[in-house]
Amino acid sequence: MAQTRESWRSRSGFVIAAAGSAVGLGNIWRFPYVAGENGGGAFIVLYLAIVFTVGFSIFLAEQTIGRAAQRSPAAAFRRLKGGAWPIVGYVGVLCAVVILPFYSVVGGWTLGFIWKSAMGSASDAGSFGAFISHGWLPILFHALFMAATVAVVVAGVRNGIERWSRILLPGLVLLMIVLIFRSISLSGAEKGVSFFLSPDFSKVTMATIQAALSQAFFSISVGMGVMITYGSYISRDRSLPGDAVWVVGLDSIFAIMAGLIVLPAVFAFGENPSAGPALTFVMLPQIFSQIPGGSIFGLLFFLMLSVAALTSAISILEVAVAHLNDEHNIARRRGTIGAGLILFLVGIPASLSFGPWADLTIFGMTIFDLMDFFATKLLLPTGAIGMALFVGWVFWPDAAKSLNGNDEPPPRWSPIWRWMCALVAPILILWVMVGGF
Ligand code: TRP
Repeated sequence: MAQTRESWRSRSGFVIAAAGSAVGLGNIWRFPYVAGENGGGAFIVLYLAIVFTVGFSIFLAEQTIGRAAQRSPAAAFRRLKGGAWPIVGYVGVLCAVVILPFYSVVGGWTLGFIWKSAMGSASDAGSFGAFISHGWLPILFHALFMAATVAVVVAGVRNGIERWSRILLPGLVLLMIVLIFRSISLSGAEKGVSFFLSPDFSKVTMATIQAALSQAFFSISVGMGVMITYGSYISRDRSLPGDAVWVVGLDSIFAIMAGLIVLPAVFAFGENPSAGPALTFVMLPQIFSQIPGGSIFGLLFFLMLSVAALTSAISILEVAVAHLNDEHNIARRRGTIGAGLILFLVGIPASLSFGPWADLTIFGMTIFDLMDFFATKLLLPTGAIGMALFVGWVFWPDAAKSLNGNDEPPPRWSPIWRWMCALVAPILILWVMVGGF
């Protein structure tokens, strides 16, 4: 007999866990810079417009597929339609398997920098470069980060994912509020705030729109089947659109909060912002070392990053675990520990590509970059297009009927959603994909 599927314990269970997935490194180390570079407030308006139209549509598409099928991605497509459609689910699972190892490597760096901040060595010159190229040390922290991820997922949907998201997400808000106050009260901070928020419409070009689209999709965690998987734990009577608005809204708020932490600090110290590791692990520790109480704020900052990365990593691992469970009947405990171990091993070459294996390149990319490129530029958009087309052309009109739960009539705007999924989103994503090459 089939076991009954776990479901979220509380009404807000999905929202909290999905927001935990969405809020991650993408919000903190990428959004502030991309926004500042691409017209500040003008970019933010454009970004929000995209998130709440195309982004929201795909998010809702995933959620609907998952709730209707009560299965993880591949099994969900098989259950709803079959034919070649499960391939879209497999693309998602493959994507999870490629992203988690390198996401965990970076998660390990954030843990390493909590430790370094506590030791007072985070801001030493060359500290970051020495750390990531060290060899076994970053692998050790990668192992710790993966172990934490496994520990949460192994405990299950309610007692692991939902419970920890409910603890970690409010903790994240608190940390961020403290850091925002510290950052904007630095003298000279207003230059950063204006870089981030002042609208400059002359900077909005086609390339800006592409940047906004790809940032939006990555940030709200669509394309991989996370929301299919998390959606499969939503009970039949729940209405979906309200939850979707909450999640994309919370994700946007966190992104803007991150901008108000990072950029004021960078500008107060007369630095030029950049994106990614250089900003997070080099520039910010140096800034923290110069402000009063900086060692504690630096520690809090890396704690914040670790928490944000952890709740995202959980969601990625859950895609793989739910897949093993639905498709291969592998129990959660075995599936989580097994997948965690294998993906930890896959992450080792990614970690080494910053040190001993730095010269090993394929198509001119290191192993880490190659995994990132393959997953985020190729697999994610492919998955997102497949899911959107599925809802727009195959699963329609049942998709609309399932939106409000309990066979309630669909919302009046559902035809707009349909055409978003059937045409607008796939075309836009294809355009971004082509632009990525
Ligand atoms: N959204 C997360 C971030 O901003 C990353 C992430 C987690 C993700 N799960 C995902 C991205 C699924 C795409 C698909 O860092």
